[in-house]
Amino acid sequence: MSVKTIGVLTSGGDAPGMNAALRAVVRSAIANGIKVYGIHRGYNGLINDDVEELNLRSVSDIIHKGGTALFTARSPEFKTEEGMQKAIETCKKYGIEGCVVIGGDGSYRGARDLSLRGIPCVGIPGTIDNDISCTDITVGFDTAMNTAVEMIDKIRDTAQSHERCTVCEVMGRHCGDIALHVGVAVGATYILVPEIEFTFEEIIKKINKGQASGKKHFIIVVAEGVGGSFELAQKIEETTGIETRATILGHVQRGGNASVRDRVLASQMGVAAVELLKKGIGNRVIASRDNKIVDFDIYEALQMKQEFDKHLYDVALEIGI
Ligand code: ADP
Ligand code: F6P
Repeated sequence: MSVKTIGVLTSGGDAPGMNAALRAVVRSAIANGIKVYGIHRGYNGLINDDVEELNLRSVSDIIHKGGTALFTARSPEFKTEEGMQKAIETCKKYGIEGCVVIGGDGSYRGARDLSLRGIPCVGIPGTIDNDISCTDITVGFDTAMNTAVEMIDKIRDTAQSHERCTVCEVMGRHCGDIALHVGVAVGATYILVPEIEFTFEEIIKKINKGQASGKKHFIIVVAEGVGGSFELAQKIEETTGIETRATILGHVQRGGNASVRDRVLASQMGVAAVELLKKGIGNRVIASRDNKIVDFDIYEALQMKQEFDKHLYDVALEIGI
């Protein structure tokens, strides 16, 4: 089966590199003689008939930009049968025979539902959290980590001058990957992630050990999924006597120009998604495994278990002293 018209949408939380993926999808589709519709505001665009045809120039000057030119949304209505039927009607109206869905695992569930109802969809992992099990890396993760490291490096300067402890909370709702990698990169004394249990006493012990060797300032990295950074800072100050401040980095981590890694990954994945749809193959997600672009069945991908890098975590704590 040869597909002549596809749609592309971005869904869920935005991530730097989504635009680079969109650009690759559009350019690759057009190079293969496929018409492309941009669907605005995630699945809402399909429900509300909010789509526009894209051409080569529609995606000019976006490869570097954070955010998503298609806008994004969370669409509770799409989870209902009525919403799904409206989406299918819109696809029929424009002759959309397949869709590229750039988003996280929630968006993949929607892509699977659409695929099962006759609109083959291919997912591209776009989320800063790196919480998609089937891929080693998601589009946006690298940029978000680099942004967080840049911010914490600045916080370190003031923590060092004041000989303080600083608690820095990074994003990651259920997944500690940002905290882990950022923690290693900033030389954190302790890293708190949802995947690993910890006690307050362990953190204090580590700070005391550092103090005993002459260490004067400390960085504690906390994943959003653990939370409680302000309370933790207060407790550290009360227990150790070291002046402590907390900073929640927040949405700054979701914006900004995409890194080289994210732009390249997004471009490769965009092209791979079109290659599948061109052949009428849907219900797949694109992934990066051992630096190779591969694809999986969406259902299988959603069943895969996320593995936390405990070895890197142990190493980080060993050298963060
Ligand atoms: P992400 O894709 O970043 O994980 P969400 O979990 O918010 O973000 O999902 C994005 C959108 O995907 C939802 O707003 C909804 O429209 C759709 N979606 C999520 N879960 C399902 C589901 N179980 N069935 C159908 N659609 C879903
Ligand atoms: O999934 C990406 C993410 O940035 C999480 O790290 C964070 O918990 C969440 O999205 C925040 O979502 P919102 O855009 O609703 O603030």
